Amino acid sequence: MSLGALLRMWRRRALLTQEQLAERAGLNVRTVRRLENDGLLQPRTTSVLALAKALELDGAERATLNAVARGHPTDRPTTAPADPSVTGPRPWTIPRQLPADVAAPGVRERELAIVEDHATMPELNEVVVFVNGMAGMGKTVLAVHAAHRLAPRFPDGQLFVDLHGHAQATAPVEPGAALARILRTMGVPAKHIPWHPDDRAALYRSVLAGRRLLIVLDDAADEHQLQPLLPATPGCQVIVTSRHRLTCPGDVRILSLDTLPLAEAITLFTRTAGCDRDTPPDVLAEIVRRCGLLPLAIRIAAACLQAHPAWNAHHLLDRLAADRLTELTAGRQSVTAAFDRSYERLPTDQQEAYRLLGSALHPAFDLDTATALLNTTTTQAIRLLDHLLNAHLLQEPAPGLYRLHDLIHAHASALWPPDGVRASLQVRCHTALLT
Ligand SMILES: Nc1ncnc2c1ncn2[C@@H]1O[C@H](COP(=O)(O)OP(=O)(O)OP(=O)(O)O)[C@@H](O)[C@H]1O
Ligand SMILES: [Mg+2]
Repeated sequence: MSLGALLRMWRRRALLTQEQLAERAGLNVRTVRRLENDGLLQPRTTSVLALAKALELDGAERATLNAVARGHPTDRPTTAPADPSVTGPRPWTIPRQLPADVAAPGVRERELAIVEDHATMPELNEVVVFVNGMAGMGKTVLAVHAAHRLAPRFPDGQLFVDLHGHAQATAPVEPGAALARILRTMGVPAKHIPWHPDDRAALYRSVLAGRRLLIVLDDAADEHQLQPLLPATPGCQVIVTSRHRLTCPGDVRILSLDTLPLAEAITLFTRTAGCDRDTPPDVLAEIVRRCGLLPLAIRIAAACLQAHPAWNAHHLLDRLAADRLTELTAGRQSVTAAFDRSYERLPTDQQEAYRLLGSALHPAFDLDTATALLNTTTTQAIRLLDHLLNAHLLQEPAPGLYRLHDLIHAHASALWPPDGVRASLQVRCHTALLT
């Protein structure tokens, strides 16, 4: 291997441009160019030393460089380039970061097919599938399951980045920090990661260019966090999950997860709880209905049954009739905690609107009722309702009609207001309904 080929290989490995290497080594950029083009065959010893230092060569690599620079070409590169035609840096490790696949067979198969079809249609330019939905709907489980199925199509690896949009006691990850972590994973030495977030994002896009990577960005908080993490070139597929309806630039396939159909909900429950075969179907149906057909709640209810060998399905059903939110807790998982994290992320005016809507006797209401409950103008009520819709704390089954999911209704009404205020709000709500 010639001196020029070696230097070029090491420079690319260090993710440096010719200008950056020249600056780092204290050399003129023309010297670096001439060296790489084998137009300067016997460089000064000081230049060779400076280059070795700037390129962070190890002992064996320095010996090779010295030998070649003294006119002894080598055919033993100390670090072989993976592909001589490569125009950018290669990762030193192929990331395989997907968490375990815990999806139950027979659950969310339709949604899985949508993600898979999307990712396997080469004529599509959309590189992003955006899975959104209420807390505990199964967004992460679906994204991870789909990613495992798609992994063989992405030979350059699979990244999984938890953006902690709604994590307990952890603020959402800063985009710059997420970029730094990904770059390190891709083999970029910490000292070569630029300080400025824009430069990090640019380096990230360079590293991804020409590669086939599958990237799962889980639990995104907002567009500001997400934007720099989206690749600019096709070839990479991204699956984003979020509790919010975010606006992603470019062509994006949006998949909003709803509650499970009854049959799938029962499948999920029985697979987890391992119910005996003679449990009446109507009892199973009632249990999953009381879980609001929400996967998180169903899994927790099933785990509770499993953890108490003395219980049977009837007993679980009775307990869920009494106080669902208190019952739906298993170990560190709880429906209330999951909803709390959505609520805590809201600005105060939306928090108040959420509590006020929770005070309605019925979980379904129209715009006039909502306006009366919120005690505001129609315009302001629409604005608040839109925010809650975007956060998946509210549903809109038909234009102008709103609905709180059963468990959300229970959660919101437990937060506030005290009984006296609640009564007056209910009067306000009923008056609105009558008029
Ligand atoms: N397809 C599925 N198969 C088996 N279990 C599932 C499935 N979907 C969801 N679950 C169960 O529901 C729980 C919640 O799912 P998941 O964490 O994917 O929800 P999420 O929508 O990502 O919630 P969050 O908004 O809190 O991130 C999981 O821990 C799992 O137990
Ligand atoms: Mg999730």
